[in-house]
Amino acid sequence: MILSPSLLSADFARLADELAALEAAGIKWAHLDVMDGSFVPNITFGPPVIAAMRKTSSLFFDCHLMIDEPGRYIDDFAKAGADLICVHAEATNHLERTCAAIAQAGAKPAVALNPATPLEVVRYLLPQLSMVLIMSVNPGFGGQKFIPFCLDKVRELKAMIREAGASTLIQVDGGVTLDNCAELVAAGADVLVSGSAFFGAPPLDERHRQFQARCGG
Ligand code: DX5
Ligand code: ZN
Repeated sequence: MILSPSLLSADFARLADELAALEAAGIKWAHLDVMDGSFVPNITFGPPVIAAMRKTSSLFFDCHLMIDEPGRYIDDFAKAGADLICVHAEATNHLERTCAAIAQAGAKPAVALNPATPLEVVRYLLPQLSMVLIMSVNPGFGGQKFIPFCLDKVRELKAMIREAGASTLIQVDGGVTLDNCAELVAAGADVLVSGSAFFGAPPLDERHRQFQARCGG
């Protein structure tokens, strides 16, 4: 299991220190939540802040774009140092073109689905996707409760990926805790995002160990 801590729950005034603390805790991925105040009712940061973080860290930058018409900004995020760019299926009418643009820009393409969005929208894209993100809360804020039906969605997506013969990773984001991480991994999740449950209980190396222990290492 890859744990991708959401920097949304980190101290924005000390991002370089927070990234260094993640690396020291054995973390490999950092989940960067980009929000535009339109697709979701909250605003965070964009390419300039990611470029500044890139200078201080070699973590894998897992960029979750909660923005309308993400196709407009793919090159900006790739140039800023995003390793993976995840766009919402609900945010564009041209999902295939946007995913192709991400690969063209040199980043790994991924698609996020809001809780109520059916899996069917990614079926034909699976061979070209590095990852599908199952949102298990309505995006916009950290610290919300996991929506239970999302567990079934993970199982169904796992079956769909197998059927397609694809190697697409499954990421789950929202309300992930020590109490539900094991069943998410058993259902097929490869990457778990955790914001409040991870940063809320330091020290981070101990927290990382606890998550990995619950999920079988
Ligand atoms: C929600 C974000 C999540 C969020 C997760 O819109 O996409 O990444 O920060 O936070 P927790 O783990 O607190 O639900
Ligand atoms: Zn996220």
